[in-house]
Amino acid sequence: MTTREACIELDNQDVLSHARARFSLSEDVVYLDGNSLGALPRATSAHVAHVVEQQWGRDLIRSWNQHDWINLPQKLGAKIAALIGAHADEVIVADSTSINIFKLLAAVLQLPHVVSDENRRVIVSERGNFPTDLYIAQGLNELLGNKYQLKLVDADQIEAALDHTVGVALITQVDYRTGHVHNMSALNKRASAAGTHIIWDLSHSAGALPVALTESASELAVGCGYKYLNGGPGAPAYLYVTRSLQTQLSTPLAGWLGHAAPFNFAAEYQPAANMNRFLCGTHSAISMAALECGLNTFDNIPMAALRQKSLALSDLFWQLMDEHCAAFGFICVSPREHAVRASHLSFAHPHAYAIMQALIARHVIGDFRQPDLLRFGFTPLYTRFVDVWDAVNTLREVMNKDEWKATQFQTRNAVT
Ligand SMILES: Cc1ncc(COP(=O)(O)O)c(C=O)c1O
Repeated sequence: MTTREACIELDNQDVLSHARARFSLSEDVVYLDGNSLGALPRATSAHVAHVVEQQWGRDLIRSWNQHDWINLPQKLGAKIAALIGAHADEVIVADSTSINIFKLLAAVLQLPHVVSDENRRVIVSERGNFPTDLYIAQGLNELLGNKYQLKLVDADQIEAALDHTVGVALITQVDYRTGHVHNMSALNKRASAAGTHIIWDLSHSAGALPVALTESASELAVGCGYKYLNGGPGAPAYLYVTRSLQTQLSTPLAGWLGHAAPFNFAAEYQPAANMNRFLCGTHSAISMAALECGLNTFDNIPMAALRQKSLALSDLFWQLMDEHCAAFGFICVSPREHAVRASHLSFAHPHAYAIMQALIARHVIGDFRQPDLLRFGFTPLYTRFVDVWDAVNTLREVMNKDEWKATQFQTRNAVT
Protein backbone atom coordinates (compact mmCIF):
# COMPACT_ATOMS: atom_id res chain seq x y z
CA MET A 1 0.00 0.00 0.00
CA THR A 2 1.28 3.45 -0.91
CA THR A 3 1.08 5.80 2.05
CA ARG A 4 0.31 9.51 2.11
CA GLU A 5 3.79 10.06 3.59
CA ALA A 6 5.36 8.31 0.60
CA CYS A 7 3.49 10.74 -1.68
CA ILE A 8 4.74 13.72 0.32
CA GLU A 9 8.23 12.31 -0.15
CA LEU A 10 7.64 12.16 -3.93
CA ASP A 11 6.68 15.85 -3.78
CA ASN A 12 9.87 16.61 -1.86
CA GLN A 13 11.91 15.04 -4.64
CA ASP A 14 9.89 16.60 -7.45
CA VAL A 15 12.03 18.89 -9.65
CA LEU A 16 8.91 20.80 -10.69
CA SER A 17 7.52 21.35 -7.19
CA HIS A 18 8.57 25.04 -7.26
CA ALA A 19 6.14 25.71 -10.15
CA ARG A 20 3.05 25.36 -7.94
CA ALA A 21 3.92 28.74 -6.41
CA ARG A 22 3.19 30.26 -9.82
CA PHE A 23 -0.51 29.57 -9.21
CA SER A 24 -3.11 30.85 -6.84
CA LEU A 25 -4.64 27.65 -5.45
CA SER A 26 -6.48 27.09 -2.19
CA GLU A 27 -4.92 24.50 0.05
CA ASP A 28 -8.32 22.95 0.76
CA VAL A 29 -8.99 22.09 -2.88
CA VAL A 30 -7.58 19.23 -4.93
CA TYR A 31 -7.85 20.53 -8.46
CA LEU A 32 -7.84 17.79 -11.11
CA ASP A 33 -9.52 19.70 -13.92
CA GLY A 34 -6.72 21.78 -15.40
CA ASN A 35 -7.38 19.90 -18.62
CA SER A 36 -10.69 21.78 -18.81
CA LEU A 37 -9.85 25.11 -17.18
CA GLY A 38 -6.28 25.79 -16.10
CA ALA A 39 -5.84 27.22 -12.59
CA LEU A 40 -5.33 30.95 -12.03
CA PRO A 41 -1.67 31.98 -12.32
CA ARG A 42 -0.55 34.14 -9.42
CA ALA A 43 0.61 36.90 -11.78
CA THR A 44 -2.67 37.21 -13.70
CA SER A 45 -4.77 39.35 -11.36
CA ALA A 46 -2.18 42.12 -11.02
CA HIS A 47 -1.26 42.11 -14.70
CA VAL A 48 -4.88 42.21 -15.89
CA ALA A 49 -5.59 44.96 -13.36
CA HIS A 50 -2.59 46.90 -14.72
CA VAL A 51 -3.78 46.45 -18.30
CA VAL A 52 -7.26 47.61 -17.33
CA GLU A 53 -6.37 50.50 -15.04
CA GLN A 54 -3.17 51.85 -16.52
CA GLN A 55 -3.08 50.77 -20.14
CA TRP A 56 -6.77 51.08 -20.92
CA GLY A 57 -7.75 53.53 -18.16
CA ARG A 58 -4.95 56.06 -18.51
CA ASP A 59 -3.07 55.38 -21.72
CA LEU A 60 -6.30 54.78 -23.59
CA ILE A 61 -6.07 54.13 -27.31
CA ARG A 62 -2.37 54.96 -27.31
CA SER A 63 -1.83 51.50 -25.79
CA TRP A 64 -2.24 49.80 -29.16
CA ASN A 65 1.20 51.27 -29.99
CA GLN A 66 2.62 52.24 -26.61
CA HIS A 67 2.04 48.82 -25.05
CA ASP A 68 2.17 46.97 -28.35
CA TRP A 69 -1.34 45.59 -27.97
CA ILE A 70 -1.47 45.26 -31.73
CA ASN A 71 1.26 42.61 -31.81
CA LEU A 72 -0.06 40.43 -28.96
CA PRO A 73 -1.38 37.73 -31.35
CA GLN A 74 2.12 37.28 -32.80
CA LYS A 75 3.96 37.68 -29.48
CA LEU A 76 1.83 35.10 -27.69
CA GLY A 77 1.83 32.89 -30.79
CA ALA A 78 5.63 32.75 -30.55
CA LYS A 79 5.39 31.68 -26.90
CA ILE A 80 2.93 28.91 -27.78
CA ALA A 81 5.14 27.86 -30.71
CA ALA A 82 7.90 27.09 -28.20
CA LEU A 83 5.53 24.71 -26.38
CA ILE A 84 4.39 22.84 -29.48
CA GLY A 85 7.63 22.45 -31.39
CA ALA A 86 6.90 25.04 -34.06
CA HIS A 87 8.73 28.10 -35.37
CA ALA A 88 7.80 31.41 -33.80
CA ASP A 89 6.36 32.75 -37.07
CA GLU A 90 4.06 29.76 -37.56
CA VAL A 91 1.63 30.33 -34.67
CA ILE A 92 -0.81 33.15 -34.08
CA VAL A 93 -3.33 33.71 -31.31
CA ALA A 94 -6.86 34.49 -32.46
CA ASP A 95 -10.54 33.79 -31.95
CA SER A 96 -11.74 30.51 -30.45
CA THR A 97 -10.70 26.98 -31.34
CA SER A 98 -14.04 26.39 -33.06
CA ILE A 99 -13.59 29.45 -35.28
CA ASN A 100 -10.00 28.55 -36.06
CA ILE A 101 -11.11 25.07 -37.10
CA PHE A 102 -13.61 26.68 -39.46
CA LYS A 103 -10.96 28.97 -40.92
CA LEU A 104 -8.43 26.22 -41.56
CA LEU A 105 -10.94 23.65 -42.83
CA ALA A 106 -12.35 26.13 -45.31
CA ALA A 107 -8.88 27.28 -46.32
CA VAL A 108 -7.73 23.74 -47.10
CA LEU A 109 -10.90 22.94 -49.03
CA GLN A 110 -10.20 26.01 -51.18
CA LEU A 111 -6.71 24.86 -52.17
CA PRO A 112 -6.63 24.53 -55.96
CA HIS A 113 -5.56 20.88 -55.94
CA VAL A 114 -8.42 20.01 -53.58
CA VAL A 115 -11.12 22.09 -55.31
CA SER A 116 -10.22 20.78 -58.75
CA ASP A 117 -10.11 17.10 -57.80
CA GLU A 118 -13.63 15.67 -58.07
CA ASN A 119 -12.38 12.49 -56.40
CA ARG A 120 -11.31 14.33 -53.24
CA ARG A 121 -14.63 14.97 -51.62
CA VAL A 122 -14.18 13.33 -48.23
CA ILE A 123 -13.59 15.07 -44.90
CA VAL A 124 -12.22 12.53 -42.41
CA SER A 125 -12.57 12.79 -38.67
CA GLU A 126 -12.86 10.55 -35.66
CA ARG A 127 -16.27 9.40 -34.50
CA GLY A 128 -15.41 10.25 -30.91
CA ASN A 129 -13.86 13.60 -31.73
CA PHE A 130 -14.83 16.59 -29.62
CA PRO A 131 -18.26 17.64 -30.93
CA THR A 132 -17.32 21.18 -31.93
CA ASP A 133 -14.84 19.79 -34.47
CA LEU A 134 -17.56 17.64 -36.01
CA TYR A 135 -20.22 20.36 -35.92
CA ILE A 136 -17.93 22.90 -37.59
CA ALA A 137 -17.15 20.40 -40.35
CA GLN A 138 -20.87 19.68 -40.80
CA GLY A 139 -21.76 23.37 -40.88
CA LEU A 140 -19.02 24.21 -43.35
CA ASN A 141 -20.05 21.33 -45.59
CA GLU A 142 -23.61 22.65 -45.62
CA LEU A 143 -22.31 26.07 -46.59
CA LEU A 144 -20.43 24.42 -49.45
CA GLY A 145 -23.62 22.79 -50.71
CA ASN A 146 -22.93 19.42 -49.08
CA LYS A 147 -20.28 18.75 -51.69
CA TYR A 148 -18.27 16.70 -49.20
CA GLN A 149 -18.90 13.50 -47.35
CA LEU A 150 -18.02 13.67 -43.67
CA LYS A 151 -16.50 10.28 -42.96
CA LEU A 152 -16.25 9.48 -39.25
CA VAL A 153 -14.09 6.54 -38.28
CA ASP A 154 -12.79 5.01 -35.08
CA ALA A 155 -9.33 5.99 -33.83
CA ASP A 156 -7.64 2.87 -35.15
CA GLN A 157 -9.18 3.36 -38.60
CA ILE A 158 -7.90 6.87 -39.23
CA GLU A 159 -4.64 5.86 -40.83
CA ALA A 160 -6.40 3.59 -43.32
CA ALA A 161 -8.97 6.29 -44.08
CA LEU A 162 -6.33 8.79 -45.20
CA ASP A 163 -6.39 8.01 -48.90
CA HIS A 164 -6.60 9.91 -52.20
CA THR A 165 -10.35 10.62 -51.72
CA VAL A 166 -9.66 12.84 -48.71
CA GLY A 167 -9.70 16.62 -49.09
CA VAL A 168 -8.89 17.25 -45.46
CA ALA A 169 -8.72 15.36 -42.15
CA LEU A 170 -9.53 16.91 -38.80
CA ILE A 171 -7.89 14.97 -36.01
CA THR A 172 -7.64 15.72 -32.32
CA GLN A 173 -4.28 14.51 -31.08
CA VAL A 174 -5.52 13.62 -27.60
CA ASP A 175 -8.98 12.14 -27.12
CA TYR A 176 -10.90 14.33 -24.68
CA ARG A 177 -12.55 11.32 -23.11
CA THR A 178 -9.92 8.59 -22.93
CA GLY A 179 -6.72 10.65 -23.21
CA HIS A 180 -5.47 8.40 -26.01
CA VAL A 181 -2.68 10.07 -28.05
CA HIS A 182 -2.42 9.73 -31.83
CA ASN A 183 0.92 9.26 -33.53
CA MET A 184 1.27 12.54 -35.42
CA SER A 185 4.32 11.53 -37.45
CA ALA A 186 2.74 8.33 -38.73
CA LEU A 187 -0.55 9.98 -39.67
CA ASN A 188 1.19 12.96 -41.29
CA LYS A 189 3.31 10.60 -43.36
CA ARG A 190 0.26 8.73 -44.52
CA ALA A 191 -1.61 11.97 -45.32
CA SER A 192 1.33 13.32 -47.29
CA ALA A 193 1.57 10.11 -49.33
CA ALA A 194 -2.15 10.44 -50.12
CA GLY A 195 -1.71 14.09 -51.11
CA THR A 196 -4.02 15.29 -48.37
CA HIS A 197 -3.82 17.52 -45.31
CA ILE A 198 -4.41 17.05 -41.59
CA ILE A 199 -5.60 19.78 -39.26
CA TRP A 200 -4.57 18.81 -35.75
CA ASP A 201 -6.60 19.91 -32.73
CA LEU A 202 -4.09 20.21 -29.90
CA SER A 203 -6.55 21.32 -27.22
CA HIS A 204 -5.71 18.46 -24.85
CA SER A 205 -2.04 18.18 -25.76
CA ALA A 206 -0.38 21.60 -25.77
CA GLY A 207 1.18 22.27 -22.38
CA ALA A 208 0.43 18.72 -21.23
CA LEU A 209 2.92 16.70 -23.26
CA PRO A 210 5.68 17.44 -25.75
CA VAL A 211 4.21 18.27 -29.16
CA ALA A 212 6.66 18.39 -32.06
CA LEU A 213 4.87 20.04 -34.97
CA THR A 214 7.95 20.65 -37.13
CA GLU A 215 9.59 17.33 -36.34
CA SER A 216 6.40 15.39 -37.06
CA ALA A 217 5.93 17.27 -40.37
CA SER A 218 2.56 18.66 -39.24
CA GLU A 219 1.04 21.23 -41.55
CA LEU A 220 -1.87 22.73 -39.67
CA ALA A 221 -3.09 22.89 -36.09
CA VAL A 222 -5.40 24.70 -33.69
CA GLY A 223 -5.81 24.62 -29.93
CA CYS A 224 -7.36 26.12 -26.80
CA GLY A 225 -5.81 28.74 -24.54
CA TYR A 226 -7.81 28.00 -21.42
CA LYS A 227 -6.89 24.40 -20.61
CA TYR A 228 -3.26 23.46 -19.93
CA LEU A 229 -2.12 26.91 -21.13
CA ASN A 230 -3.84 28.55 -18.15
CA GLY A 231 -5.16 31.53 -20.12
CA GLY A 232 -8.43 31.86 -18.18
CA PRO A 233 -12.06 31.03 -18.97
CA GLY A 234 -12.74 31.53 -22.67
CA ALA A 235 -9.12 32.56 -23.35
CA PRO A 236 -8.17 33.21 -26.99
CA ALA A 237 -7.17 30.18 -29.03
CA TYR A 238 -4.34 29.76 -31.55
CA LEU A 239 -3.62 28.37 -34.93
CA TYR A 240 -0.51 27.01 -36.60
CA VAL A 241 0.30 26.85 -40.30
CA THR A 242 3.61 25.52 -41.56
CA ARG A 243 5.66 28.16 -43.38
CA SER A 244 5.32 26.64 -46.84
CA LEU A 245 1.50 26.71 -46.70
CA GLN A 246 0.96 30.12 -45.15
CA THR A 247 0.61 32.10 -48.35
CA GLN A 248 -1.23 29.31 -50.17
CA LEU A 249 -4.15 29.31 -47.77
CA SER A 250 -6.90 31.92 -47.65
CA THR A 251 -9.06 32.39 -44.61
CA PRO A 252 -12.78 32.48 -45.33
CA LEU A 253 -13.13 35.17 -42.65
CA ALA A 254 -11.22 37.89 -44.44
CA GLY A 255 -11.28 40.55 -41.73
CA TRP A 256 -9.34 43.78 -41.71
CA LEU A 257 -6.60 42.62 -39.34
CA GLY A 258 -5.71 39.84 -41.79
CA HIS A 259 -5.02 42.45 -44.44
CA ALA A 260 -1.45 43.12 -45.57
CA ALA A 261 -1.82 46.75 -44.46
CA PRO A 262 -4.88 47.14 -42.23
CA PHE A 263 -4.30 50.82 -41.61
CA ASN A 264 -4.33 51.68 -45.30
CA PHE A 265 -8.06 51.07 -45.07
CA ALA A 266 -8.15 49.94 -48.69
CA ALA A 267 -11.49 48.80 -50.10
CA GLU A 268 -9.97 45.63 -51.59
CA TYR A 269 -8.83 42.75 -49.40
CA GLN A 270 -5.17 41.86 -49.78
CA PRO A 271 -4.11 39.11 -47.36
CA ALA A 272 -0.94 39.51 -45.32
CA ALA A 273 1.93 37.36 -46.59
CA ASN A 274 2.35 35.59 -43.22
CA MET A 275 0.33 34.24 -40.28
CA ASN A 276 -1.35 37.62 -39.88
CA ARG A 277 -3.69 36.64 -42.70
CA PHE A 278 -5.41 34.23 -40.30
CA LEU A 279 -6.48 37.07 -38.04
CA CYS A 280 -9.97 38.41 -38.48
CA GLY A 281 -11.12 41.25 -36.22
CA THR A 282 -9.80 43.11 -33.20
CA HIS A 283 -8.54 40.92 -30.35
CA SER A 284 -9.25 41.49 -26.66
CA ALA A 285 -6.14 43.01 -25.10
CA ILE A 286 -7.47 42.07 -21.66
CA SER A 287 -7.92 38.40 -22.53
CA MET A 288 -4.51 38.41 -24.18
CA ALA A 289 -3.00 39.81 -20.98
CA ALA A 290 -4.42 36.89 -19.02
CA LEU A 291 -3.22 34.39 -21.60
CA GLU A 292 0.27 35.86 -21.48
CA CYS A 293 0.43 35.19 -17.74
CA GLY A 294 -0.79 31.65 -18.39
CA LEU A 295 1.97 31.06 -20.91
CA ASN A 296 4.58 32.55 -18.58
CA THR A 297 3.90 29.73 -16.11
CA PHE A 298 5.89 27.52 -18.50
CA ASP A 299 9.01 29.69 -18.33
CA ASN A 300 12.11 27.53 -17.75
CA ILE A 301 10.05 24.36 -17.44
CA PRO A 302 11.61 21.55 -19.48
CA MET A 303 8.86 19.75 -21.37
CA ALA A 304 10.54 16.39 -20.74
CA ALA A 305 10.32 16.92 -16.96
CA LEU A 306 6.69 17.97 -17.31
CA ARG A 307 5.88 14.82 -19.26
CA GLN A 308 7.74 12.60 -16.80
CA LYS A 309 5.80 14.07 -13.88
CA SER A 310 2.49 13.88 -15.73
CA LEU A 311 2.95 10.15 -16.30
CA ALA A 312 4.15 9.61 -12.74
CA LEU A 313 1.01 11.36 -11.44
CA SER A 314 -1.35 9.33 -13.59
CA ASP A 315 0.51 6.10 -12.79
CA LEU A 316 0.12 6.88 -9.09
CA PHE A 317 -3.57 7.70 -9.46
CA TRP A 318 -4.23 4.46 -11.30
CA GLN A 319 -2.22 2.44 -8.78
CA LEU A 320 -4.08 4.02 -5.85
CA MET A 321 -7.41 3.38 -7.55
CA ASP A 322 -6.41 -0.30 -7.74
CA GLU A 323 -5.31 -0.29 -4.11
CA HIS A 324 -8.24 1.61 -2.58
CA CYS A 325 -11.18 1.60 -4.96
CA ALA A 326 -11.06 -1.79 -6.68
CA ALA A 327 -14.31 -2.87 -4.99
CA PHE A 328 -16.41 -0.05 -6.41
CA GLY A 329 -16.60 -0.99 -10.08
CA PHE A 330 -14.56 1.79 -11.70
CA ILE A 331 -13.13 0.86 -15.08
CA CYS A 332 -10.27 2.91 -16.44
CA VAL A 333 -10.83 3.65 -20.14
CA SER A 334 -7.49 5.41 -20.62
CA PRO A 335 -4.47 3.68 -22.16
CA ARG A 336 -2.12 1.81 -19.87
CA GLU A 337 0.90 2.35 -22.17
CA HIS A 338 2.75 5.59 -21.58
CA ALA A 339 3.44 6.17 -25.27
CA VAL A 340 -0.27 6.68 -26.00
CA ARG A 341 -1.43 8.16 -22.67
CA ALA A 342 -1.89 11.92 -22.32
CA SER A 343 -2.30 13.84 -19.06
CA HIS A 344 -5.75 12.78 -17.91
CA LEU A 345 -7.40 9.53 -16.89
CA SER A 346 -11.06 8.62 -17.23
CA PHE A 347 -12.92 6.00 -15.27
CA ALA A 348 -16.26 4.58 -16.34
CA HIS A 349 -18.92 4.02 -13.68
CA PRO A 350 -22.72 3.79 -14.00
CA HIS A 351 -23.12 6.56 -11.38
CA ALA A 352 -20.25 8.71 -12.63
CA TYR A 353 -22.12 12.01 -12.55
CA ALA A 354 -23.37 11.73 -8.98
CA ILE A 355 -20.03 10.42 -7.77
CA MET A 356 -18.20 13.36 -9.34
CA GLN A 357 -20.65 15.80 -7.76
CA ALA A 358 -20.09 14.20 -4.36
CA LEU A 359 -16.33 14.43 -4.86
CA ILE A 360 -16.58 18.09 -5.85
CA ALA A 361 -18.63 18.72 -2.70
CA ARG A 362 -15.59 17.34 -0.83
CA HIS A 363 -13.34 19.81 -2.75
CA VAL A 364 -11.84 17.25 -5.10
CA ILE A 365 -12.54 18.72 -8.51
CA GLY A 366 -12.58 16.65 -11.68
CA ASP A 367 -15.36 16.49 -14.23
CA PHE A 368 -17.94 14.23 -15.83
CA ARG A 369 -18.13 13.37 -19.51
CA GLN A 370 -20.90 11.54 -21.26
CA PRO A 371 -21.95 8.81 -21.05
CA ASP A 372 -20.46 7.56 -17.78
CA LEU A 373 -16.97 8.96 -17.27
CA LEU A 374 -15.25 10.54 -14.30
CA ARG A 375 -12.32 12.48 -15.74
CA PHE A 376 -9.25 13.50 -13.75
CA GLY A 377 -6.61 15.80 -15.23
CA PHE A 378 -3.02 15.99 -13.97
CA THR A 379 -1.31 19.31 -14.50
CA PRO A 380 2.31 18.81 -13.51
CA LEU A 381 2.92 22.51 -12.90
CA TYR A 382 0.65 22.46 -9.87
CA THR A 383 -0.70 18.97 -9.14
CA ARG A 384 1.17 17.30 -6.29
CA PHE A 385 1.57 13.61 -5.60
CA VAL A 386 -0.15 14.15 -2.27
CA ASP A 387 -3.13 15.66 -4.13
CA VAL A 388 -3.44 12.39 -6.01
CA TRP A 389 -3.41 10.45 -2.76
CA ASP A 390 -6.00 12.77 -1.18
CA ALA A 391 -8.23 12.55 -4.26
CA VAL A 392 -8.32 8.76 -4.29
CA ASN A 393 -8.75 8.60 -0.54
CA THR A 394 -11.70 11.00 -0.75
CA LEU A 395 -13.22 8.96 -3.57
CA ARG A 396 -12.93 5.87 -1.41
CA GLU A 397 -14.79 7.65 1.42
CA VAL A 398 -17.47 8.95 -0.95
CA MET A 399 -18.05 5.39 -2.12
CA ASN A 400 -17.80 3.72 1.29
CA LYS A 401 -20.29 6.13 2.82
CA ASP A 402 -22.58 6.18 -0.24
CA GLU A 403 -22.33 9.97 -0.21
CA TRP A 404 -23.00 10.13 -3.94
CA LYS A 405 -26.55 8.84 -3.36
CA ALA A 406 -27.67 12.15 -1.81
CA THR A 407 -30.48 13.85 -3.74
CA GLN A 408 -28.53 17.00 -4.55
CA PHE A 409 -26.00 15.05 -6.61
CA GLN A 410 -28.55 13.46 -8.93
CA THR A 411 -29.60 16.50 -10.98
CA ARG A 412 -27.35 17.52 -13.85
CA ASN A 413 -25.97 21.07 -13.85
CA ALA A 414 -25.86 23.02 -17.11
CA VAL A 415 -22.09 22.44 -17.20
CA THR A 416 -20.96 18.95 -16.23
C1 LIG B 1 -10.62 18.91 -28.61
C2 LIG B 1 -11.36 20.18 -28.36
N1 LIG B 1 -11.51 21.08 -29.35
C3 LIG B 1 -12.16 22.25 -29.15
C4 LIG B 1 -12.69 22.55 -27.91
C5 LIG B 1 -13.46 23.80 -27.62
O1 LIG B 1 -13.40 24.78 -28.54
P1 LIG B 1 -13.89 26.25 -28.14
O2 LIG B 1 -12.81 26.86 -27.33
O3 LIG B 1 -14.10 26.90 -29.45
O4 LIG B 1 -15.13 26.15 -27.32
C6 LIG B 1 -12.54 21.67 -26.87
C7 LIG B 1 -13.11 21.99 -25.54
O5 LIG B 1 -13.09 21.29 -24.61
C8 LIG B 1 -11.87 20.45 -27.09
O6 LIG B 1 -11.74 19.57 -26.11
